[in-house]
Amino acid sequence: ESTTELDISAIQPGQSVKAVFRKQPVFVRNLLPAEIAEAAAVDVSSLRDPQTLAERTKEGKENWLITMGVCTHLGCVPLGAGEGENKGEFGGYFCPCHGSHYDTAARIRKGPAPTNLLVPEYEFTSDTTVQIG
Ligand code: FES
Repeated sequence: ESTTELDISAIQPGQSVKAVFRKQPVFVRNLLPAEIAEAAAVDVSSLRDPQTLAERTKEGKENWLITMGVCTHLGCVPLGAGEGENKGEFGGYFCPCHGSHYDTAARIRKGPAPTNLLVPEYEFTSDTTVQIG
């Protein structure tokens, strides 16, 4: 079983970076307070895949959104992390393959993807280090 250790100390608020976990992209995003508020303001019962931001982050670390960078439709890599910023209509991620829009909690909001971007197993090993897997 392989794990990935990431140093997140250089990821600025508002920034999202792409890393690699088990040969797949993983997005690590340092959410802005406004992005957290936007995610929290959504009526969860209106969502295709109902989950709160709190359910998708660690307690006390709600600004750190860690998800697989793999669209749950047919597996393309969404935009919005790293270069080529296009966060889509809901400010999270946008999959250009068939137009899936994810919000600031990486929840599917529009387009064909059936579920939210997957949150992998992970834990904080320090304030600035995350171990995924
Ligand atoms: Fe992302 Fe189809 S693979 S919308």
